[in-house]
Amino acid sequence: MEITVTKTTCPKEKPDSSTLGFGKIFTDHMFMMDYAADKGWYDARIVPFANLSLHPASTVLHYGAEIFEGLKAYRRADGKVQLFRPMENIRRLNNSAERLCLPTIPEEDAFQVLTEFVAMEQDWTPSAPGTSLYLRPFLFGNDESLGVHGVHNATFVIIASPVGSYYKEGINPVRIMIEDEDVRAVRGGTGYAKCGGNYAASTRAGERAAQQGYSQVLWLDGVERKYIEEVGAMNVMFKIGDEIVTPMLSGSILPGITRKSCIEVLKKEGYTVSERLLSVDELAKAMEDGTLLEAWGCGTAAVVSPIGELCYKGKRYAVNNGEIGAVTQHLYDTLTGIQWGKLEDTFGWTCPID
Ligand code: PLP
Ligand code: COI
Repeated sequence: MEITVTKTTCPKEKPDSSTLGFGKIFTDHMFMMDYAADKGWYDARIVPFANLSLHPASTVLHYGAEIFEGLKAYRRADGKVQLFRPMENIRRLNNSAERLCLPTIPEEDAFQVLTEFVAMEQDWTPSAPGTSLYLRPFLFGNDESLGVHGVHNATFVIIASPVGSYYKEGINPVRIMIEDEDVRAVRGGTGYAKCGGNYAASTRAGERAAQQGYSQVLWLDGVERKYIEEVGAMNVMFKIGDEIVTPMLSGSILPGITRKSCIEVLKKEGYTVSERLLSVDELAKAMEDGTLLEAWGCGTAAVVSPIGELCYKGKRYAVNNGEIGAVTQHLYDTLTGIQWGKLEDTFGWTCPID
């Protein structure tokens, strides 16, 4: 795929990497390409970072035809920059596109444009501990018509943002409220797709939890409000006795790449990992009888986020005395060790950028 490059004439100053938040600062350039049903993808280009111009009737603005991805470029100790399992993000992007009737991108083209864009912006990858260059590919429908139908015109964009930790708590345990009113997604809906609408629909519960001093909510299934699904915008795992339990991918759960990586690390090390239904009653019982030993969320932004307290129907339960547990810490150390190139990557997950 031919990519034209237009360089910015006014490069920005790079931020001090010790003061980075999440997703507030953007690099000098962005990648864009357009799609038309009769042409396929065309006009692949890297251009100076700028506002987008959209027709007011664009599909994305009315019917939410938008999907996105999130992955990071990491600065290794030897100065090189690397990605973590980028093909997984590309495959998930296409699965999301298929669900929302948006055009898919041939995997090898998506990989080429992503890696060429990262190569161009790699100087923006910060080097302070815990920092990285967050990449946000997104794809939206922009037919200039108010009719509700499959998309004929679309745009794919990649922007990049140097980031620090996602949660202000960093790797410190967070307080989580079990949400038994709103649901994030339903089977048959879009829960397994990374589409903007899922996040819009989940904001209310998150805001309500925040008002009561909680960092996020633990989502229950949309049919019975009985089975645990995810935590905030992360997958969730529990250590109950000797078993590591994570909700099975039922269609309403996003198949997280961090989740998959945690499972692969734990299985390789001989842990018993179950992907199964976990009811909130079983979890409550484990909290009551002391067999819930650890709980954590996992996702690209925070890597691993320990849960120190769970609140269910007004009752508060401390998890591991509100401290990070040994398995949670081990997963954090292993994944971040591989991502930042401090540990040998025996899984073949990393992808260096030239
Ligand atoms: N679940 C939701 C709803 C998410 O938004 C994310 C983040 O991308 C995850 C889970 C974790 O996925 P990943 O590990 O691929 O970042
Ligand atoms: C994650 O990477 O874990 C996320 O949930 C990303 C979020 C900003 C949508």
